[in-house]
Amino acid sequence: MAATANRPRILVTRKLPEAVERRAARDYDARLSTDDTALDAAAMGDAAEGCDGVIVCAADKVGADAIDGLPDSVRIIATFSVGTDHIDLGAAKRRGIAVTNTPDVLTDATADIALLLMLAAARRAGEGERMVRAKAWGGWAPTQLLGTHMSGKTVGIVGMGRIGQSLARRARGFDMQIRYYNRTRLAPELELGAIYHDNVEDLLPHAEFLSLHCPLTPQTRHLLDARRIALLPKGAILVNTARGPVVDDRAVVAALKSGQLSAAGLDVYDGEPHVHEGYLGLENVVLLPHLGSATTETREAMGFRALDNLDGWFSTGEPADRVV
Ligand code: DGY
Repeated sequence: MAATANRPRILVTRKLPEAVERRAARDYDARLSTDDTALDAAAMGDAAEGCDGVIVCAADKVGADAIDGLPDSVRIIATFSVGTDHIDLGAAKRRGIAVTNTPDVLTDATADIALLLMLAAARRAGEGERMVRAKAWGGWAPTQLLGTHMSGKTVGIVGMGRIGQSLARRARGFDMQIRYYNRTRLAPELELGAIYHDNVEDLLPHAEFLSLHCPLTPQTRHLLDARRIALLPKGAILVNTARGPVVDDRAVVAALKSGQLSAAGLDVYDGEPHVHEGYLGLENVVLLPHLGSATTETREAMGFRALDNLDGWFSTGEPADRVV
């Protein structure tokens, strides 16, 4: 082990909630981020010199170059995220570096944001907010900013893992019908009446609302492209809290302009923090800056989970949330 005083040395690439940093500094020889800026591959390698483990987050690009640039002392990367698409898992495996994530703890916070985006997009909350701030509101009017309601409508959920199921529970509270696509069908006690489709194409024609909850993989990149958008009912509402590249931005922008999509609510973007220019001028899209897990409770829980994984690794070699 590279660290001194019997405590493993870890690099934490970004500023984490105070309580998490306190525990990290108590239990580890922790190199905490002072300026909270993203490290490129070379800087990450330099900063990790002499470290046994690294905590990264979803905004860090941990490609093969970053992994290959890590010193040999680094044996584990604990990501402060459930998603792992920012990490080249193959490169980590090749170098024998373990990778862990933080499942479960951000499920409800992310489902809340998906629901918020469904409501905001359906009820034109962004447009209304902009109107009020611009002092352009002339007062209540019978036909002003009419949206559509959620009750009685069908939501199609793509990816019925923890977050998809959590959104389904919320949507039931709005008297929505639930249909879903998932690689495997849920057990009946988890399905709770939701209708299963074994392929996305069969689900789409029913989805007045479509909410994406699948991980980003080579198979799900541009899963929602122009061809599939055309299968949705005209005027459908799209919500993406999964990963930006799951949708083809050009196709979504075109559909928002043509009315094939009446509105969208997006929390994630291809190449974020860059946001496809086409969205910026559109009134019928609600844009959030990747807030899915952004509550104090959740971010603390994510940090503790990342530390639990380091604890597991350094004590038994068996972190609970090992991905590779
Ligand atoms: C994750 O954990 O993967 C989220 O996208 C970041 O909150």
